[in-house]
Amino acid sequence: MEKVKRLKTRVWVVDNIVDKQQVYPQIREAVEWLRAGEVIAFPTETVYGLGADAANTAAVEKIFAAKGRPSDNPLIVHVASMAQAEAVAASIPPMAKTLMERFWPGPLTLVLPKRAKAVSERVTAGLPTVAVRMPDHPLALALIEASGLALAAPSANRSGRPSPTTAAHVLADLDGRIAGVIDGGPTGVGVESTVLDCSGGVPTILRPGGVTKEALIEAIGRVEEAAAVNDEAAPKAPGMKYTHYAPKAPLWIVAGPPAFLQRLVDESRAEGKTVGVLTTEENRDQYAADVVLPCGTRQALETVASRLYDTLRRFDETNVDLIYSEAFPEEGIGAAIMNRLRKAAGGRAISEQRK
Ligand code: TXA
Ligand code: MG
Repeated sequence: MEKVKRLKTRVWVVDNIVDKQQVYPQIREAVEWLRAGEVIAFPTETVYGLGADAANTAAVEKIFAAKGRPSDNPLIVHVASMAQAEAVAASIPPMAKTLMERFWPGPLTLVLPKRAKAVSERVTAGLPTVAVRMPDHPLALALIEASGLALAAPSANRSGRPSPTTAAHVLADLDGRIAGVIDGGPTGVGVESTVLDCSGGVPTILRPGGVTKEALIEAIGRVEEAAAVNDEAAPKAPGMKYTHYAPKAPLWIVAGPPAFLQRLVDESRAEGKTVGVLTTEENRDQYAADVVLPCGTRQALETVASRLYDTLRRFDETNVDLIYSEAFPEEGIGAAIMNRLRKAAGGRAISEQRK
């Protein structure tokens, strides 16, 4: 049963961002809703977040309800200053400090020992740790600063759907379920922050994201990757065990050259299926399928990350029965792209070698 009260979702368009210190009238209105315990979607440099006062349990519960999110999946706390980070974490190990200085504001979330009573238990899902991040977006920072609140914020999509990279994506999923959305245009990075466990031992990547493993290693020397990062069975970040990012039609990841992927398309079409292909600018002309959507260029995988969720959502506007996606090299941001694609595919993969 839906327990969410039907709301009028306001849209505050804020363009022409010149100065993050400037408090726009729209931001001030959004702040009033946050202070009143409502949830507001806002842009970050990665994806749109769905924010609420992290200290207000009733407000945090509205995030879970609006998204339909399982309550054992903890939320990231967004801050705009080191002082705010220190207020929610019990301690910040030197290595974590180094990373904050190097990558904040930016797409890196640090899991730290949590300070008792600093945020609602619902934010941390009962864990002894808290995930903290300082987003690199003038509107996110302005909203946090103007409210004076640490904001608990997951991605602003219905649970299971691709994360939103535009305000239109947010409204497609959450119109009528949240108090408002700040529309700051499309986000840049396009995939979520890297989640790094710094709560003890060697820092461990729980979710690959906007800050690459290579960049982390360059900064602090040694970083491990949770075995569970690409494994649905035994996740370390609680969120990684759920189906995520999925378009409506089943998605298959295809490892192999375009000619191999085209053969799969031909076989499926011979069975009467309507087939979509997720490709790149360089390969788009290599396919004959019902819907061919290019997603960035292989010359700069950042462009693929930036467009990935929008492209997945665009397949939902077509009538395809299934989607074949090209695979990407797992270096740099490619690790995050493939991690999200695998989850969107729910493990469906075909490789030329194995066929
Ligand atoms: O880029 C991002 O990180 C976006 C924007 C809005 O900031 N947020 C985001 O939040 O992706 P969400 O809730 O969709 O993903 C948070 C991830 C989940 O996989 C969750 O399990 C993990 O972080 N997480 C949160 N708190 C944790 C904790 N204390 N220990 C381990 N993992 C945690
Ligand atoms: Mg999410």
